[in-house]
Amino acid sequence: MKNNTNTRFTSAFEEDVYTGLTSYPKHLSSKYFYDKKGDKLFQEIMNLPEYYLTNCEYNIFKTNTQEIADAFAGANGFDLIELGAGDGKKTKLLLRYLADKKINFDYLPVDISQNALDKLQESLKKELPSVSVKPQQGTYFKTLERLADYNTRKKVILVLGSNIGNLLHKDAINFLRQIQEAMSPDDMLFMGFDQKKNPQTILDAYNDPTGVTAAFNKNVLERINIEMDGNFDLDSFIHWETYNPETGTAKSFLVSKEKQTVTIKNLDLTVNFDAWESIHTEISQKYDDTVVEWLASQADLKVINSFTDEKDYYKNYIFRKK
Ligand code: AVJ
Repeated sequence: MKNNTNTRFTSAFEEDVYTGLTSYPKHLSSKYFYDKKGDKLFQEIMNLPEYYLTNCEYNIFKTNTQEIADAFAGANGFDLIELGAGDGKKTKLLLRYLADKKINFDYLPVDISQNALDKLQESLKKELPSVSVKPQQGTYFKTLERLADYNTRKKVILVLGSNIGNLLHKDAINFLRQIQEAMSPDDMLFMGFDQKKNPQTILDAYNDPTGVTAAFNKNVLERINIEMDGNFDLDSFIHWETYNPETGTAKSFLVSKEKQTVTIKNLDLTVNFDAWESIHTEISQKYDDTVVEWLASQADLKVINSFTDEKDYYKNYIFRKK
């Protein structure tokens, strides 16, 4: 596709930036937060005291390792497939338990970033040398298609971190359905969903006083500056978080503090901002059992078990094909 001045887009990122910044209201997708710097900022977010999600999920794994492992392990061993593996901190609790029990399994971390996979494989080689690791580089979608034929034994698919929360319900159902279609009757899906809670707790998690989340949000503007020769002045935007307790949707915005014009040379694009005009950048959906069960049933999955932390902030569900 081409833009107004017939410049060809050289990536989906360019095309999405063009579409998002010429729309009203303006928007940019949170999937573009993650370059090398964005990955690092997200690591920092996971260590923030306000960002309870990571700790809750870690504690769920820690408290329920045996029960989770027993639910996963089949008589003939299994393949453990993790979509978006990251640094594997939570998964390692489970891997260590399975390795100690000499349970027969392969670990297949899936990630778009070869660099992330290399790092993970390296650390596993040191910390858990007996675990058989088969990294899979690629998008979730392509990898799931490939793994649908990976059917010699039971598969367990892990999706942690409430990553599904970045998707609108319609897209979340599509994602769940894709997974469901790659599953056989005995296979399991184990997925983390951040739960509805005191709205203040949620706002605090996405609006830390040290400004790490703001920098993470603004990283999409920095990427446009670097990769498309843009001239966004990051200080002239504020990070703004909202949470609607009725829908369970947390939303992030970047708001222009003044009337200004930004140019993005590689897109041949001039973008005008009114004072206090917004760019919507991210949704982080919060869930309850009713919504999770509804999403599952829409994707022909059913909930067969769940695990939560002591405050009921976060929940991991096990799903099977309906
Ligand atoms: C990685 C999508 C789960 O939405 O909670 C953290 C990303 N954004 N702080 C989330 C994020 C702002 C995170 N997910």
